[in-house]
Amino acid sequence: MKSVFRVVSLVAGVITVLIVLVLVYLKVTYPRSDPPENIIIKPDPQRLQRGRYLSRNVAGCIGCHSIRDWTRFAAPPKPGTEGGGGDLINPENGFPGTITITNITPFSLGTWSDGELIRAITCGVTRNDEPLFPIMPYPNYNLISREDVYSIVTYLKTLEPIENDLKKKELNFPINFIARIIPLQSYTPVPQPLSTDTLSHGRYLTNIASCFSCHTRMEGSKYAEGMDYAGGREFMIPSGVVTSSNITPDIESGIGGWNKEMFIRRFKFFDTDSTHSLPVGKDDFNTPMPWTMYAGMTEADLGAIFEYLQTCMPVDNKVVKWTPARVTK
Ligand code: HEC
Ligand code: HEC
Repeated sequence: MKSVFRVVSLVAGVITVLIVLVLVYLKVTYPRSDPPENIIIKPDPQRLQRGRYLSRNVAGCIGCHSIRDWTRFAAPPKPGTEGGGGDLINPENGFPGTITITNITPFSLGTWSDGELIRAITCGVTRNDEPLFPIMPYPNYNLISREDVYSIVTYLKTLEPIENDLKKKELNFPINFIARIIPLQSYTPVPQPLSTDTLSHGRYLTNIASCFSCHTRMEGSKYAEGMDYAGGREFMIPSGVVTSSNITPDIESGIGGWNKEMFIRRFKFFDTDSTHSLPVGKDDFNTPMPWTMYAGMTEADLGAIFEYLQTCMPVDNKVVKWTPARVTK
């Protein structure tokens, strides 16, 4: 009996040592990412304008790196917080830990080199070689063209500095270790798609705009197979649960019955002074879908996204868009 006990405690000891070794290995050798490029981006008005457009209206940098105002439709950034970060992602949102969305104005990033900014945006590694959690959509930005990432960096450096002191992040065990292996080794830019090649252009923009991640249901930590763009991902917002729509070309449950004009109009509705910041009652339907941000996209770009989505696999998946909190409670 004694020897059985001894064997068991020996095995437990060996396992503990192995686990500790794996954790130390992860901590010391990850994230594995190429060193930042040694590069200086020449700012010019064209880059500034393109960077502003991508950061504000397509890639969502400014919308996410701000404090979102849930008293307004589609929760646009509170004026004066754009780029300053501050929103929390925490266990209340079903997240294994707490992350504060960072400040990306020069107050926080002013000393980062262009190469360090490019690496953070496209690979998910900070200046201090720490991993970024992929709520920051760097896996998508890894495919951004060089010219576009140069434009975004050019624009970031012109943001009004916002001074704040944000809480650091804390991830629960074992996610804090697993998160170290998520960042990407290298930036793999795609060539800038020609605007005349509507489908490639649409696919490119759809990727940068992160439509897939919100519009595809998750099963555990993976996207459900065969459910690309079929909706069903749930978002807890202060007034209830919103479920993302099916945006596949399925006629019944998706947007297969829409035409390009209808699609563009749905977005452009929010592109006016009076619809940019519509008040919403505290128990009423609201949405994480950043309508007001995308509303600033050009009609050509929205049209290209529509045309690309129409080439995706139709999936029959009816979604109930809204469950108010006062019903679920
Ligand atoms: C959906 C939300 C979201 C979007 C969209 C987003 N980010 Fe982030 N970003 C984050 C979060 C969250 C972090 C912090 C992650 C962490 O600490 O692990 C972050 C971190 C960063 C960092 C690192 C800052 C630091 O101090 O470590 C940079 C730089 C950055 N983002 C730039 C951008 C740019 C540029 C874009 C647009 C091309 C962008 N982000 C789009 C959520 C977002
Ligand atoms: C942050 C998550 C999020 C992102 C990013 C996002 N969506 Fe959505 N989207 C939603 C949710 C949730 C809904 C359902 C609620 C609503 O109508 O706003 C929705 C609704 C829609 C609808 C309305 C469909 C209908 O049947 O009424 C369309 C169209 C749409 N999204 C297209 C897109 C496209 C195109 C992109 C990328 C450019 C995108 N979404 C990015 C969350 C998101």
